[in-house]
Amino acid sequence: MASYQNRAIVLNQRPDGEIQDGDLVMTESPVRSLGEGDVLVKTLWLSLDPYMRPRMNDAKGYMDPIGLGDVIVGESVGRVIESRSDRYQVGDLVTDYSGWQEYNVFPDDAPMVYKIDTSIGAPLQAYLGVAGMPGRTGYCGLMYVGKPQAGETVVISAASGPVGTVAGQTAKQLGCRVVGIAGGEQKCRFVVEELGFDACVDYKAGNLDADLKAACPDGIDVYFENVGGAVTRAVAPLLNKGARVPICGYVSAYNASDMGAVETPFHVLKALDEPPEHRFFLVTEWQDQHQEITRLLAGQVASGKLKYRETVAEGLDNAVEAFKGMLKGRNFGKQLVHIAD
Ligand SMILES: NC(=O)c1ccc[n+]([C@@H]2O[C@H](COP(=O)([O-])OP(=O)(O)OC[C@H]3O[C@@H](n4cnc5c(N)ncnc54)[C@H](OP(=O)(O)O)[C@@H]3O)[C@@H](O)[C@H]2O)c1
Repeated sequence: MASYQNRAIVLNQRPDGEIQDGDLVMTESPVRSLGEGDVLVKTLWLSLDPYMRPRMNDAKGYMDPIGLGDVIVGESVGRVIESRSDRYQVGDLVTDYSGWQEYNVFPDDAPMVYKIDTSIGAPLQAYLGVAGMPGRTGYCGLMYVGKPQAGETVVISAASGPVGTVAGQTAKQLGCRVVGIAGGEQKCRFVVEELGFDACVDYKAGNLDADLKAACPDGIDVYFENVGGAVTRAVAPLLNKGARVPICGYVSAYNASDMGAVETPFHVLKALDEPPEHRFFLVTEWQDQHQEITRLLAGQVASGKLKYRETVAEGLDNAVEAFKGMLKGRNFGKQLVHIAD
């Protein structure tokens, strides 16, 4: 086997609030030699996702915290460059939970590794965005928890990101009136003009309650929750009887040192006289549909039916800054890191 140096970003110390210099650091070490059944994958694209931030805290959420000294978790698209397994050939393209590193060795029975069907014609990095985990999240959360009906009003926060992009366009395909919420005029224009939502409210414009009310004259039947905070408080009084709220995440709280102390969407919704049907969901609840939904979304990407945006940081050296920016909305669409070709 050829020798490779692996660069990785590890958790050096737990961030207190926003990530500071020295919290995440780059390490370099040789890639270990392959045992029988092992596969070596070179990372081409790394996905940056909001859930990674709470996992840097020393608190158990729905997933275990990242250990000190461990590589930051994350999914990537990579190419098999060496294989001691019949299941993977050199040249295969896969999505795998490599973490933030340039090479990954895994046994050929590792879970959550999927070969990419390049015949569909979607760009590789889309399998980390709208045709990947975030896209399946938007699709499943909307369809199976939101259960929208034609003619209903569906509101989607973080509307220009990959989860919101798919949830909103899927709701449009079902015949709903779809209203996005996003930060800034440019993102709102994109959500309406490119993604085809009926309206989009700029929550940073200073008039959120009134603007949202004006955009939802018939109230809200489904609210797809991505952000929490002031947005949830503005949505809550507009929810119709029988409304459903899939709680996908609440990114506005992810930099909090103590997630237990923040006001969550559950607090806001439960305080209503008639709380809507609401629950937190995880995309992995529908893991058995992974391939089917990936094919559906990748097909829509390839045909141009599903529109989306991406923001690309170049190289692992720029991953931390890109990640910090994403938590503040500096990304426009799916935040990726391009590592290699
Ligand atoms: N449950 C699951 O299985 C699952 C799986 C994947 C993702 N998720 C969740 O889905 C949500 C969206 O993920 P994504 O990958 O599509 O991310 P994303 O939208 O690309 O990035 C996060 C966005 O959140 C918005 N934001 C940040 N701070 C905010 C604040 N204080 N108030 C309102 N909006 C704020 C920003 O957009 P603006 O510029 O528009 O503010 C930012 O671009 C996250 O909550 C994530 O944790 C859940």
